[in-house]
Amino acid sequence: MVCLGNICRSPLAEGILQYKASAAGLLWKVDSAGTAGYHIGKPPHELSQKVSKINGIDISSQQCRQFKKEDMLHYDKIYVMDSSNYLDVKRISGDLWNESKTDLLMNECYPGRNMAVPDPWYGAEDGYHTVYKMISEACDVIIARYGSINM
Ligand code: 4NP
Repeated sequence: MVCLGNICRSPLAEGILQYKASAAGLLWKVDSAGTAGYHIGKPPHELSQKVSKINGIDISSQQCRQFKKEDMLHYDKIYVMDSSNYLDVKRISGDLWNESKTDLLMNECYPGRNMAVPDPWYGAEDGYHTVYKMISEACDVIIARYGSINM
């Protein structure tokens, strides 16, 4: 799960998909990263932590890290939150870029629309709730689609 800062959206996406996968008995390893290195080593944004806790998921132990090109090799799927993340992941991946592994997360719900998970960083708490709902719906689709595969 990749966004810009690995502080707001992708930590939620990591926590939500890991929780749903484990609850479904799947041995998936879910991780997240940011294309930028602004907050390396920091925990998720306090509002991402709050909204996820309200929904029963603890993401407080996550630590921000930057996406690296080898992630393209190590993971079966790379989900990005918006088109700008997509271009950044492509640039960082260089010769390891694999288009077939990479997609916008919301394309799982709305194929081909390239809809963004909006960045809540500059806004208020309600933006984090909106983002939580969107990511949660996409993760439900991922579990339904790939849940027979133990990645
Ligand atoms: P995220 O949000 O990509 O969802 O983690 C952001 C977090 C930090 C910044 C921008 C977006 N920033 O500019 O520091």
